[in-house]
Amino acid sequence: MGSRIIATGRALPRTAVTNRDLERFMETSDDWIRSRTGIGQRYTLRSDEPLAQLAAAASRTALERAGLKPSDLDAIIVGTVSSEFAFPSFGCQVQTLLGADSIPAYDVAAACSGFIYALSVADAHMRAGDFAKVLVIGADALSTFVDWNDRRTAVLFGDGAGAAVIVSEPGPRGLLSSLLRSSGRHWDLLSLRATGVRATLDTEIRRNPDDAIKMKGPELFKIAVKSMEEVSRQVAERARINLGDVSLVVGHQANMRIIKAVAERLGLPPEKVFINIERYGNTSAASVPIALDEAVELGRIHDGDLVMLNACGGGLTWGANLLRW
Ligand SMILES: CC(C)(COP(=O)(O)OP(=O)(O)OC[C@H]1O[C@@H](n2cnc3c(N)ncnc32)[C@H](O)[C@@H]1OP(=O)(O)O)[C@@H](O)C(=O)NCCC(=O)NCCS
Repeated sequence: MGSRIIATGRALPRTAVTNRDLERFMETSDDWIRSRTGIGQRYTLRSDEPLAQLAAAASRTALERAGLKPSDLDAIIVGTVSSEFAFPSFGCQVQTLLGADSIPAYDVAAACSGFIYALSVADAHMRAGDFAKVLVIGADALSTFVDWNDRRTAVLFGDGAGAAVIVSEPGPRGLLSSLLRSSGRHWDLLSLRATGVRATLDTEIRRNPDDAIKMKGPELFKIAVKSMEEVSRQVAERARINLGDVSLVVGHQANMRIIKAVAERLGLPPEKVFINIERYGNTSAASVPIALDEAVELGRIHDGDLVMLNACGGGLTWGANLLRW
């Protein structure tokens, strides 16, 4: 018995912050950000917008499209590093908002690879026969963790949530293979020492630089390209799939240049690579499910297509899932 994504959903904060908006309080330019990252705008949470509510909204859309109610679910698994609480888990917060007592609900902390990890965990449970219907969520709000004086990092991140309903199903469709990787020795390429009080752009609260996201961008760039290329090859090999048969790669949207470099190394033409970073920036664990939801909505994915998901993020963590849609 395998598992298959039957519906997706996404939700974004109501405030779009353009590069031009950033120019007003930071020494940066629309031109620099677009040419170095591909980002044109990002959505950022306001102080009255809990991330859990966005995750619940994305989940309700996915559930509705799946024709399911929260009470039909067997588990909720969330990729996130942005919970407002150390505990209860973010999964428990979303569970309450959905009214899905008393199924297991928990988080997987793998930063930008969070959705890839959560999907793989859900699939393993389903293959073991533990669950038949699972809600997998990717939700993050890294804009609330940046130091707005650090222009090398602050311009990259946006907030959002994406969700997918997966069901256990025999047959050729569904998740064919997943591969997860971590390298803790590279922890200092991308890290956040303390979570806690969120500092949204509309409040006076600013993070102490010591407690903000720290990133070594250029080093991370190189490792991200290499690791995503490798894991994409390996997951295809594991599933005995020829990379050329992949119809669409829906990867983590960290930097347009990273996405293009990975595609080039894999020998994939631009039409096989989904890119929406221009409108969202890097939404961490939300980026793959948001992109997947858009790709489905835009008719870029058809029944029977081979779809590759891949990501790399703080940890370092990286991974890929290969799906027959
Ligand atoms: C962060 C990143 C965009 C920086 O791009 P880069 O081409 O490596 O740029 P550098 O950091 O070398 O900086 C080049 C110059 O641009 C300047 N610069 C950096 N950020 C800037 C900004 N927002 N606006 C204007 N100038 C900026 C730097 O100060 C530097 O100027 P200098 O040479 O006078 O010191 C790129 O390294 C990257 O995307 N790395 C991966 C980050 C990532 O994906 N993180 C998440 C992984 S999940």
